[in-house]
Amino acid sequence: MSKKASKYVSKQPDEHGIIAWTDEENQIWHDLVARQLEIIPGKACDEYMEGLRLLDMPRDRIPQLHEINDVLQATTGWQVAQVPALIPFDEFFRLLANKQFPVATFIRTREEFDYLQEPDIFHEIFGHCPLLTNPAFAHFTHQYGKLGYAASPKERVYLARLYWFTVEFGLLKTAEGLRIYGGGILSSPGETRYALESDKPERQPLTPLDALRTPYRIDIMQPIYYTLENVDDLFAIADMDIMALVQEAMELGLFEPKFPPKNAA
Ligand SMILES: [Fe+2]
Repeated sequence: MSKKASKYVSKQPDEHGIIAWTDEENQIWHDLVARQLEIIPGKACDEYMEGLRLLDMPRDRIPQLHEINDVLQATTGWQVAQVPALIPFDEFFRLLANKQFPVATFIRTREEFDYLQEPDIFHEIFGHCPLLTNPAFAHFTHQYGKLGYAASPKERVYLARLYWFTVEFGLLKTAEGLRIYGGGILSSPGETRYALESDKPERQPLTPLDALRTPYRIDIMQPIYYTLENVDDLFAIADMDIMALVQEAMELGLFEPKFPPKNAA
């Protein structure tokens, strides 16, 4: 979603919308899914597990987008949209505002199997699409897209933090214990364990104003996670005056980062 150059290029679908994945790409998908399915029971939230069941993704090959679309259409009316590896913010928000979730159609190489900063098809489909079958998550993401599309570049930087601490790195504090709903965590085996089991990160109840004011880095395990009690809390957040909170966050300024500066020796 940034404009930095990518070494990856999205694969183009043919005239029937089908992408010809290679055996090696399908094998990488298989290995990523198999590893993550072993880890997530008892860690991913119930809504995510239900979404996985509904999507019923193939394990041995990368799903075609129409297979995902059939389920999203029937549950929340969302779709996935095929995009280049990196797209401008304008396009990102425009798609979300139209209930289209951007999916770059490339998959990481073996060399970057464990860690990849760019969102590949495994992150987008395995990480995010299960929750897109959930009405609260779908509604929040739609509202976010509409607000972001209308926002100024400076406001978008604030909005991006709310997205980061919910859609990407959100946790739930349920009666059964901590659970994950953020797709950035659920597509990373290392962070799936760290986010729930490590005593290093802080975990605080989410207030949107705090999230808007919290700096983050995309290249480290998160030092702080924000928790909701229920995925349905996203309905209430979506209906808040988020842009008024953005203005308030701008006036109050950012919190002190809980991580070292990126270029510290
Ligand atoms: Fe993502």
